Amino acid sequence: MSIPKLSEAHHPRPQWRSRMGFILAALGSAVGLGNIWRFSYLCHKNGGAAFLVPYFIALLIVGIPLLILELGIGHKMRGSAPMSFAKVDRKWEWCGWWAVNSAMYGIMIYYSVIIAWCLCYVFYSFNLSWGDDPNHFFFNEFLNKSTGPFVFGDMRTPIVLSLFAVWFFTWFIVYSGVQKGVERANKVFMPMLLGLITILVFWSLTLEGAQKGLSVYLKPDFLKLMDYKIWIDAFSQIFFTLSLAFGIMITYASYLPRKVDIVKDALIIGFGNCFFSLFAGLAVFGTLGYMAHTQGVAVSEVVEESLGLAFVTYPKAISLMPAFAKVFGVIFFSSLVIAGLSSAISLVEAFSCAVIDKFHYGRGTVVTVVCSSGFILSLFFTARSGLFWVDIVDHFITNYGLVIVGVLECVIVGWIFKASKMRDHINHAGRLPLPKIWDISVKFLVPLILIFLLVAGLKVEFSEPYEGYRPIELFTLGQNWLLLALFVSIIVAFRPWKRELEEKQDESKN
Ligand code: PHE
Repeated sequence: MSIPKLSEAHHPRPQWRSRMGFILAALGSAVGLGNIWRFSYLCHKNGGAAFLVPYFIALLIVGIPLLILELGIGHKMRGSAPMSFAKVDRKWEWCGWWAVNSAMYGIMIYYSVIIAWCLCYVFYSFNLSWGDDPNHFFFNEFLNKSTGPFVFGDMRTPIVLSLFAVWFFTWFIVYSGVQKGVERANKVFMPMLLGLITILVFWSLTLEGAQKGLSVYLKPDFLKLMDYKIWIDAFSQIFFTLSLAFGIMITYASYLPRKVDIVKDALIIGFGNCFFSLFAGLAVFGTLGYMAHTQGVAVSEVVEESLGLAFVTYPKAISLMPAFAKVFGVIFFSSLVIAGLSSAISLVEAFSCAVIDKFHYGRGTVVTVVCSSGFILSLFFTARSGLFWVDIVDHFITNYGLVIVGVLECVIVGWIFKASKMRDHINHAGRLPLPKIWDISVKFLVPLILIFLLVAGLKVEFSEPYEGYRPIELFTLGQNWLLLALFVSIIVAFRPWKRELEEKQDESKN
């Protein structure tokens, strides 16, 4: 059964006001918390500049081709992920729902909590509330971390309040529409973010000892390239950082006009995003170098793992600043908040657009229901067990959910719709031609690499439970979360489209 065209007369599809508006919105989605703390941390863990080798290889052979695929299918079908896939073949609609469900009720509900933490830290920067021991402050006072994922404890009031602010702001922007909300917000946010990060980079490079940090960042340790785990890290980082397989780029491309240079825009978005990570890395490593210098230790000794880099190491460094420490703190955490919010907006937009496409409810109602339910669900992550939940849900969705959706996208577009047909469409729409090798890439290379990643990841998963959690905890929170999202997706996918219902009613009247 093919999907009837949406009656555009009743529901005109929103459009970007300008090409710049689209590029900034897509960059806003791509540039997020991941560019600042996740990238720097991975770089440090995986041999400094040597990490850039697999990182750029991943960008070129998986990132850019998939980005082109997502932009292409969204543009061709003028629909959200479920609608676009349904137009290829109704049987595959569930896959689009799985993407937007895991984005909204997987990623967004914990991503919003991390933004809320950053927002709290903007305020804490005003009086350096973390004191002499940021580690103790973060884990024992701020989060008051419990002993395990199922020891909930009470909700943390400052986090709940900031979380409300995050959701309210996101609601307001998405509610205001594509042009007046999403586009306008990103037109302000992205230049502002670049400005703030530029101040941080120059500031941190003038600090004493910054060189020490930079040499760790920029001096490659090529021996590390022999370890396959660094390749897994690079590929999954590219996936996460480009917001691929969330249905976001598909949705954003569906608001584009007919004539558009998809290849060129994909290159700008892909390289622009990675440039941003590299640039922000200068500020992070410059500051780490300064910190190591003042404490008289090696840079590796000051770096904390993962989220600890932003919430423990950085506060420590801020306190050590020779002047204007508080201003430095406010700028650093504000840039995290801004980067996070522009990504959050894209997650809510992708899901809301999918619901509007299918059921034709009004934008206001959909966005309000989506944001209220998202806020309520994310409250679970504000309990004392929150950090464990963030950790487990993030691990499963980013390592498995997204990679599986990535493979399915290659099958749907590369094989069922046909890569060559998509390439023709892209080449018709724009001037920069897409070479034929792209067909081979999305039909064979990308899915094979993703399947390899999946298998390698599962191998590690079975040999050692992730981070030493108990299997029951991993199953309940991680795997079941994915399966629940899948189950709901299948149910929603098989509900009839509003247009189908209307047609049936028309038929019965005649
Ligand atoms: N690209 C974002 C980042 O690097 C991640 C992201 C975007 C996650 C959109 C979810 C949704 O942080």
